[in-house]
Amino acid sequence: MYDQDFWNERYASDEFLYGTEPNTFLVEQAHLLQEPVLSLSEGEGRNAVFMASRGLRVLGVDCSAVGLEKAHALAQTHGVAIETEVADLAEDRPPENRFGTVVSIFAHLPSSIRGRLYPLIERSLVVGGMLLLEAYSERQLERSTGGPRDIDMLMTIDKLQSEFPNLSKVLAREIEREVLEGTGHTGKAVVVQYIARRER
Ligand SMILES: C[S@@+](CC[C@H](N)C(=O)[O-])C[C@H]1O[C@@H](n2cnc3c(N)ncnc32)[C@H](O)[C@@H]1O
Repeated sequence: MYDQDFWNERYASDEFLYGTEPNTFLVEQAHLLQEPVLSLSEGEGRNAVFMASRGLRVLGVDCSAVGLEKAHALAQTHGVAIETEVADLAEDRPPENRFGTVVSIFAHLPSSIRGRLYPLIERSLVVGGMLLLEAYSERQLERSTGGPRDIDMLMTIDKLQSEFPNLSKVLAREIEREVLEGTGHTGKAVVVQYIARRER
């Protein structure tokens, strides 16, 4: 349902669906970011551009070529460079021991994809590297302010802990907060925020 065609269509207008401002959890935790950064499901580039503006090297991966074209346009407007790769995370193989940070902002994926990808994400971090993730909670299913209408793609802290067993938890919380990001994320929502480190 939420495939490449779906996302290319959603991103087809000139408007930035999730706005051009970075995600506020990412901004709040920006002091933790270490390069190079891998940004999963980067979309239209708002977060990659924010990180590049802080002087970080960023690779944004997304299945939508339309989204990533807009990401480059946004980067140009801000006078920064970002790297991008059009790839389906169901098949992508991030290199081992490469990234200082993996960022996953509203990068909702079905468990069938996460089950293959997340062990690769753990190994793609350098020792000392961090995962920084925000996603809509399973409790968001009953709300209409954003997020997939599929409980399997929504997160809980328990799911994150069991799907990243080799990372050490730094922060794990489920909170209700106002998420105002373009016309895609439109109000009070329940989110999970998760930060974990590769220790060895
Ligand atoms: C809710 S948007 C979030 C975009 C961006 N992270 C942000 O916060 O602005 C979800 C993104 O996931 C991407 N996506 C969905 N399934 C994917 C897959 N299998 N492989 C790569 N990207 C995928 C979509 O193209 C879309 O850009």
